[in-house]
Amino acid sequence: MSNKKQLRIGLIGCGFMGRTHSNGYKRVGDFFPELTYQPVLKAACARSADKVKAFAEQWGYESTETDWKALIARDDIDAVDICTPNEFHAEIAIAAAAKGKMILCEKPLSRTLAEGQRMVDAIEKSGVKNTVWYNYRRVPAVTLAKQIIDSGKLGKIFHYRANFLQDWTISPELPQGGEGLWRLDVDAAGSGVTGDLLAHCIDTAMWLNGAIKDVSAMTETFIKERVHQASGKVQKVGIDDACIFHCHFENGSLGLFESTRYARGHKALYTFEINGEHASIRWDLHDLNRLEYFDHRDDSIVRGWRSILVTDGDQPYMNKWWVPGLIIGYEHTFVHQAADFLKSLETGEPCAPTFKNALQTQKVCEAVIDSANSKSWKDTGAVNM
Ligand SMILES: NC(=O)c1ccc[n+]([C@@H]2O[C@H](COP(=O)([O-])OP(=O)(O)OC[C@H]3O[C@@H](n4cnc5c(N)ncnc54)[C@H](O)[C@@H]3O)[C@@H](O)[C@H]2O)c1
Repeated sequence: MSNKKQLRIGLIGCGFMGRTHSNGYKRVGDFFPELTYQPVLKAACARSADKVKAFAEQWGYESTETDWKALIARDDIDAVDICTPNEFHAEIAIAAAAKGKMILCEKPLSRTLAEGQRMVDAIEKSGVKNTVWYNYRRVPAVTLAKQIIDSGKLGKIFHYRANFLQDWTISPELPQGGEGLWRLDVDAAGSGVTGDLLAHCIDTAMWLNGAIKDVSAMTETFIKERVHQASGKVQKVGIDDACIFHCHFENGSLGLFESTRYARGHKALYTFEINGEHASIRWDLHDLNRLEYFDHRDDSIVRGWRSILVTDGDQPYMNKWWVPGLIIGYEHTFVHQAADFLKSLETGEPCAPTFKNALQTQKVCEAVIDSANSKSWKDTGAVNM
């Protein structure tokens, strides 16, 4: 019998993220044995009884629910993990906070800034532990980038640029709404690539380079109408299919961001680059263990881009995995966030990004959409955290 303290998880939403989080909870105790808390897969919830039962059996959940309200009402659940489409994040989080449950919520925090603010108010009122799964912060190479930037090696920062490119919505035959395609329905998603993809880039950017002060954006909806799966009728498409914005950071540097689901050939190309007076860093999700680093102070005869394979035990998280030279993957970022959340229960420190941190990203997303609609610069109101 384990002498660990239990963190009894109630997972809501059993799709893509339901799987990554379940894997995280199952693996975390094996690879972070020093933690005093251990997640217990208490209940999974999805609307279809058959599907949730099959999911629970596959992943080892003790019980199932088909109504999230029943799940959050249970006394044997300590933490609610929200893995539903964006439209349910606020309602579930606010209700779970009122019941005193800890909350782990998928990104983006909310569909709109107003919704996000209500979520922050709710968790502040109840004082419950919370975190938002902006998991790319916990790619070891990205965490290492943060450490290098914070050490001052780059000097004054001039530029930050990021891309998140996909190509899966090019067909006009693709319907919008419902299972699997809620991302194309503005009522369910809140926005298109801005909230879905750029939110990741914005979270990483503000973590690495501080607050984004103001933005000038343009968006495009290439396919204007699609059949809605719920009504069966052709309906206007309300999401942004593509978004490009530039911005000023609080520290005086300039930013350039691009996202689209119409970049044929790209499935999930997330890249960023940061340029300082002495050095630059770049990273690419498709080669996520690698960090590229250029330092102008190097001896000129060997000066050039260094390719750092981030697998050594003294690099972030890597002493938990294999031996130097052996790589890890996407799924490990969720193990890392689960570990950091469990650790935060021991230390009492917040597990960033918290709802409050994630609200800063909502401020930028909202300003981006406002700027594109109004064809003007918008202040974001985001603050350094
Ligand atoms: N961190 C990341 O990198 C990342 C990646 C993908 C998705 N996400 C986020 O995770 C969330 C879920 O995305 P996904 O890709 O897993 O979606 P998905 O469509 O694969 O899964 C959503 C699940 O929620 C269930 N669901 C829908 N409404 C529900 C309700 N009212 N009650 C209970 N269950 C309900 C669906 O049946 C489905 O099982 C979204 O907010 C998305 O933005 C984050």
